[in-house]
Amino acid sequence: MIAIGGGSPIDAGKVAATLLANPDKNARDVCSLGFAPETAVPIVAVNLTHGTGTEVNRFAVVTIPENEFKPALAFECVYPAYSIDDPALMTKLPERQTVFVSVDAVNHVIEACTTKAASPYSIGLAKEVVRLVAKYLPAAKKNPSDLRARYFLLYASMIAGIAFDNGLLHLTHALEHPLSGVRPELAHGSGLGIIVPGIIREIYPAKGDVLADVLAPIVPGLKGAADEAELAAAGVRAWLTGVGVPENLRAEGFVAGDVGKLVDLAFTTPSLGVLLGLSPVEATRELVTRIYQTAI
Ligand SMILES: [Fe+2]
Repeated sequence: MIAIGGGSPIDAGKVAATLLANPDKNARDVCSLGFAPETAVPIVAVNLTHGTGTEVNRFAVVTIPENEFKPALAFECVYPAYSIDDPALMTKLPERQTVFVSVDAVNHVIEACTTKAASPYSIGLAKEVVRLVAKYLPAAKKNPSDLRARYFLLYASMIAGIAFDNGLLHLTHALEHPLSGVRPELAHGSGLGIIVPGIIREIYPAKGDVLADVLAPIVPGLKGAADEAELAAAGVRAWLTGVGVPENLRAEGFVAGDVGKLVDLAFTTPSLGVLLGLSPVEATRELVTRIYQTAI
């Protein structure tokens, strides 16, 4: 299976690779977690964006349109055998995509360094990812052909993919997948960027020591004290709006009346419960509702 593209094409290729090795199953079996494949044909990923990290990990995200589910699948057998990460293939990414894919990479590590499965390894990678994106995203926006900037943004997304393969993910991805499940036209990175400040506000009191360190390149001066939660959230929001992320979900077409459905999807979409269970603070319906309401 040779998968060429950004996250979605490579992830579709990963699922197809499991079907080629398990011809009695279909995509719905795999994507609804009715069947967990243990074999796949060898995968070669030719990556065309600097956000996904899928070229180096076991994850695949797919949408099941009829029930608006967008689960995150994790199978050992879909690690690519070979991947090509070539920054020269990314110099034509439009500015919006340049921003949103790098915001995806940053979110991978903000989560990977604060889950219940976080480790010194995922935390160390997270620090480097935030540092590199903060430094090189403005350069890539200014000059899309800047190969050095594209190289380091691609390197950052790759090690972010490794970081969350180890440290896993929690609230931000679990709450974004319902957004782009309902509105497939919503860029994953845009949805993540809109909701992450509200999540930082909620988890900072539990993870202030790690977040103060990891976020330092974009929110300098944090000490890790619980009462900095608002400051940290505002600082991350300021950085995100500065690079071009919309300020709220209304800008992406959502209304307050959507919150109940989004909360339901966060708790019923296959696999997202695992992510919610990895949150450093208990992911209650009240918490999830509050995060969506804040984002709207
Ligand atoms: Fe992501």
